[in-house]
Amino acid sequence: MIPLFLAPMAEFTTPAMRVLCEACGAARTYTEMVNAEGICRGSSKTLFLLETFPEERHVWAHLYGHDPERLAEAARRVEAMGRFEGIDINAGCPVPRITAQGAGSALLRDLPRFGALMKAVAKAVALPVSVKTRLGPNPHVPTWRETLRMAEDAGVVSVAFHARYTSQGHTGPTDLDTLRKAVAATALPICGNGSVTDRASAEAMAATGVHALLIARAALENPAVFSYGHADPFELTERHLELELRYRSLAAAFSHITPEESTVLTFRRHLFRYFKGLPGANRLRGSLMNLKTLDDIRAALNTLKAAAAAPTSAESAMLTP
Ligand SMILES: Cc1cc2nc3c(=O)[nH]c(=O)nc-3n(C[C@H](O)[C@H](O)[C@H](O)COP(=O)(O)O)c2cc1C
Repeated sequence: MIPLFLAPMAEFTTPAMRVLCEACGAARTYTEMVNAEGICRGSSKTLFLLETFPEERHVWAHLYGHDPERLAEAARRVEAMGRFEGIDINAGCPVPRITAQGAGSALLRDLPRFGALMKAVAKAVALPVSVKTRLGPNPHVPTWRETLRMAEDAGVVSVAFHARYTSQGHTGPTDLDTLRKAVAATALPICGNGSVTDRASAEAMAATGVHALLIARAALENPAVFSYGHADPFELTERHLELELRYRSLAAAFSHITPEESTVLTFRRHLFRYFKGLPGANRLRGSLMNLKTLDDIRAALNTLKAAAAAPTSAESAMLTP
């Protein structure tokens, strides 16, 4: 079976989510995107993004930047932490805040810089270095061949392609034909990414010959996607909240909100997605802003549990003699 990795997601792939996804079968996870400059400056907020839990086994640090020497210095510091299995370079993020700095997908418009970044980082550390990127800025400007040539030259160990172009954002069809060509064009292991949500979509992408698949959005709704299953959303939420509270407690010294408040925000931002499709889930979504404490969340979940256990009107009609 092809290995499935949890893709990096800014503000989502915290140690809590990574631990849950590893437990559900993710063979590798990535931190959220971390600014190389912040690491070099020793910013406590940035370093917080590089916290890991001792039980994490296969976590890679996912870094972004535009200056080869600064990214190399950041990679050295990350390696010295001794927490990571590898270092991954972001060369695919289309968010203007990142591309305006010449980082993320802006690197696909500045290939000499992209090549120099890979080379500098791979030379700076003994840890394996990978890159996550896209097929090109747009379908008329494919850059995947140059990316592969530069990655081979730099000594990068693998390349993950989000099988879309920057111009597509996160929507539109994935280009599996081009992904297949990329796999055939190199001896480097290639990872595939983009709209893998279940076994069928995983098999379709695996058929291109990629070595592993990265899954992002589907894991936000169902971490058990890593074993093609479906976990109990109530148990999942309980475990996730406990882990998130543990992570947020590490920020207590510099955060302006309490660990409980930031854990509640995490629930409001994405954990409610675990209940998508259940009776009462839309009502929960509509009332998220009223949830201020963990007790509020527990009470809302108890209501949802009762709604999920109650027979539907169709079932009640069948039960009525
Ligand atoms: C909320 C969110 C945050 C993301 N943050 C990052 C990031 O920090 N670095 C990165 O390389 N990709 C990031 N991505 C892109 C994903 O890693 C992935 O490439 C993309 O969502 C396509 O995969 P999917 O169809 O499985 O979601 C992010 C995606 C989402 C939805």
